[in-house]
Amino acid sequence: DSPYPTDIREYLYKILVIGDLGTGKTSIIKRYVHNIFSLNYKSTIGVDFALKVIQWSPDTVVRMQLWDIAGQEKFSGLTRVYYKEAVAALIVYDVSRPKTLESVPMWKTDLDSKVTLPGGDPIPVVLLANKTDLQDETSGGLNPEEMDTFCEENGFLKWFGTSAKDNSNIEDATRFLLEEIMNKE
Ligand code: GTP
Ligand code: MG
Repeated sequence: DSPYPTDIREYLYKILVIGDLGTGKTSIIKRYVHNIFSLNYKSTIGVDFALKVIQWSPDTVVRMQLWDIAGQEKFSGLTRVYYKEAVAALIVYDVSRPKTLESVPMWKTDLDSKVTLPGGDPIPVVLLANKTDLQDETSGGLNPEEMDTFCEENGFLKWFGTSAKDNSNIEDATRFLLEEIMNKE
């Protein structure tokens, strides 16, 4: 009767974080992994990595390898390389800059054209409407019902309003995405 589970399951998932310049991708990851936030903007160059280890259940450990891809990589032609073997993605826009929402379908289309699940289905993607601390009435021009429609039309599982600054909703969004991934196992 050992108190330790004899059969620990470990999963490693590559998860992409993409979206326009300055929308808060790095800030969301830093908040999620290290619980820190800074208002200083240091644009990511190329790609950065972070690892979040989660005790999912007593016998299951999940390692989320977060790929923090610079917004400027939209124009680089390297996204195919970065997207390879990803199992899920977060696409981030900035609610205080509606132009960054206009780019979201382009990010999603580019993603779907370059990576799929082994069976050929699109990888699960969640949309993050970030910086809600700057604007809480709308989500960058769209109301919640319009956001739901936007998600249906563009193949997002769901959207979450988040704030890296206030640490709002990031845990909920990542947990939702992880549940989707685990359900497919
Ligand atoms: P690139 O690496 O250039 O693609 O940008 P990024 O998407 O990684 O954005 P980053 O996390 O560097 O944040 C850009 C700026 O927005 C920084 O000044 C952050 O402090 C700020 N920022 C990020 N998230 C939030 C938020 O939730 N609220 C507010 N008010 N500012 C935020
Ligand atoms: Mg960044």
